[in-house]
Amino acid sequence: MAFHSAWPSRKPDKQRKAGSSRVRGHLLILPLAGIVLFSCAGDPPRPHAYVGSEVCAKCHAGADANRVQETWQGTAHAKAWQNLGSLRGGEIAREMGVKGKAQQAPECLECHATGQTAPPALRALISVEGGVGCEACHGPGADYAKKLVMPEAREARRHGLRPDPEAACTGCHRVGFAHIKAFDYATRWPLIAHALPAKTGR
Ligand code: HEC
Ligand code: HEC
Ligand code: HEC
Ligand code: HEC
Repeated sequence: MAFHSAWPSRKPDKQRKAGSSRVRGHLLILPLAGIVLFSCAGDPPRPHAYVGSEVCAKCHAGADANRVQETWQGTAHAKAWQNLGSLRGGEIAREMGVKGKAQQAPECLECHATGQTAPPALRALISVEGGVGCEACHGPGADYAKKLVMPEAREARRHGLRPDPEAACTGCHRVGFAHIKAFDYATRWPLIAHALPAKTGR
């Protein structure tokens, strides 16, 4: 089955809302779904939960999906948590005055894992082992990583997807840390690139 043709055609918004099996704390306004859909045009801030890169891999792995997952797996991002346990990791921890194991230190997990500064309820499904996963850049996926949302570019954004997250890089590639080099997007993105050669225009 081809990656692109496998998707069901888009259902009307109302049907989709009603068919959603997830309770999202919207119970009070659910009966007013029509109004909510309109008011969402202004994109009210709403926290999204993390699900983990394994969920993205269900659709973004393999030749039909441009091997996005496999490409990411081959980068240091995928091993960012493992590498905290290296000798060099121990050295950096000492230099930064961090006590205990680097793999468990919030001071390291902030940048070497995904979603670890979010409230516990929002990171219940994601594990530190996944390192710098898809959602560290594309945003927490519980609401957009769904069959009926993801393929619709506008809907996916409305549910928290950041399709072109250049701005996310410097959240971790920050200045002021001895072990972090100066960051230049133009030269660093190609080292981890996983975009399709021809953009779909979405
Ligand atoms: C149920 C299948 C499915 C899941 C799960 C899924 N995606 Fe997608 N994703 C798609 C499809 C289909 C497209 C549209 C592809 C296209 O337009 O060529 C897409 C597009 C994208 C795009 C490009 C959006 C744009 O507007 O350019 C990004 C980025 C993306 N997905 C990231 C993710 C991340 C991160 C996750 C996990 C949190 C995820 N996806 C989970 C199916 C999925
Ligand atoms: C502000 C975000 C941030 C924090 C906090 C952080 N790191 Fe890093 N770390 C990075 C980035 C970004 C890189 C990649 C370096 C580069 O390419 O410039 C990196 C690279 C590394 C590397 C591999 C590169 C090397 O120098 O060998 C290790 C090991 C490491 N960090 C350990 C740690 C440990 C241990 C802690 C906690 C004491 C920590 N880091 C805290 C962002 C961070
Ligand atoms: C370090 C940050 C980062 C991580 C981690 C990351 N991405 Fe991306 N991704 C980007 C950026 C930046 C772009 C946009 C590139 C562009 O438009 O030039 C992108 C583009 C994409 C696209 C769109 C490709 C296209 O051309 O339409 C998809 C799909 C995607 N990512 C999925 C994923 C999935 C799935 C994962 C995890 C397996 C992942 N990304 C991990 C930063 C990241
Ligand atoms: C959540 C924090 C985080 C974000 C966001 C992030 N990085 Fe990183 N990045 C790291 C860490 C940590 C490492 C070092 C991992 C290690 O060596 O253990 C790293 C390593 C790298 C490397 C070295 C890769 C390799 O395979 O050797 C490149 C290149 C890079 N990042 C580019 C980017 C770009 C481009 C973006 C934005 C699109 C980005 N990063 C976003 C944390 C982050």
